[in-house]
Amino acid sequence: MTAERINGKQIVAELREQISHEVGSLTAEGIRPGLAVILVGDDAASAVYVRNKAKACEQVGIHSEVHRLPAETTQEELLQWIERLNRNDEIHGILVQLPLPKHIDEDAVIDAISPLKDVDCFHPVNVGNLMIGKPSLLPCTPAGVIEILRRTGTEIAGKHAVVVGRSNIVGKPMAMLLLREHATVTICHSRTPDMEAITRQADILVVGVGRAQMIKANHIKPGAVVIDVGINRLESGQLVGDVDYEDAATVASKITPVPGCVGPMTITMLLANTVQAARAASGKGSL
Ligand code: GUN
Repeated sequence: MTAERINGKQIVAELREQISHEVGSLTAEGIRPGLAVILVGDDAASAVYVRNKAKACEQVGIHSEVHRLPAETTQEELLQWIERLNRNDEIHGILVQLPLPKHIDEDAVIDAISPLKDVDCFHPVNVGNLMIGKPSLLPCTPAGVIEILRRTGTEIAGKHAVVVGRSNIVGKPMAMLLLREHATVTICHSRTPDMEAITRQADILVVGVGRAQMIKANHIKPGAVVIDVGINRLESGQLVGDVDYEDAATVASKITPVPGCVGPMTITMLLANTVQAARAASGKGSL
């Protein structure tokens, strides 16, 4: 069997078209959604991610501003930036690109962002709302994965979903969203013995650990849907996921390519969150 390659480009294009339409309507009503991105220091990968986010905003008509601050920026200065953006009515979403330089306490920075503008869904209030099922902005990468599953007609309710990785950005919120969709959820991580025995039970396998091509055909149940959140650069320069695509595709029914699926979907969810936050701020919608 050769798995269907999930067409990320098409899903992303359809969604961005919808978002662009919503931005147009809101802007016509005098509410132009706005996103502020703060980048501290000169991490090369972060600079690329931030540029892609700004470009995506432009594509759908969202106002975006990128504040590039020097690596020596103090925590106090960064907190002042966030305070100003919290008070700025033209800004509905605030994203501080991680990782931050070592002298800055990431938790203190995340805590300072207004939960209503926290388009990453990193603030403890939003993480808590997610946990108890209250309405809130949703974390971009996991929300993008759910959208991919929906748009490929993958049933989630009643299925066994296995998440490999337990990070705060991917694994933990991913498990929570799958649970909200009524999956039976198992999380595997670096201390899980005989992981293969568990991943082989997955109807839906979501992998986000940051280890190049670690998931092979022998980890996968025939017919499973495999979602690869990883992005790693091999010594050859090639970008690959956490799943060995060619090998996994011999067993899975559907699989996401890397690059070109979960990455652009994550940015698309950031756009959707910014629009949702703008609508909620204007009293025209809720979170
Ligand atoms: N760095 C890597 N991924 C992310 C993300 O999703 N949000 C932020 N703010 N920083 C990141």
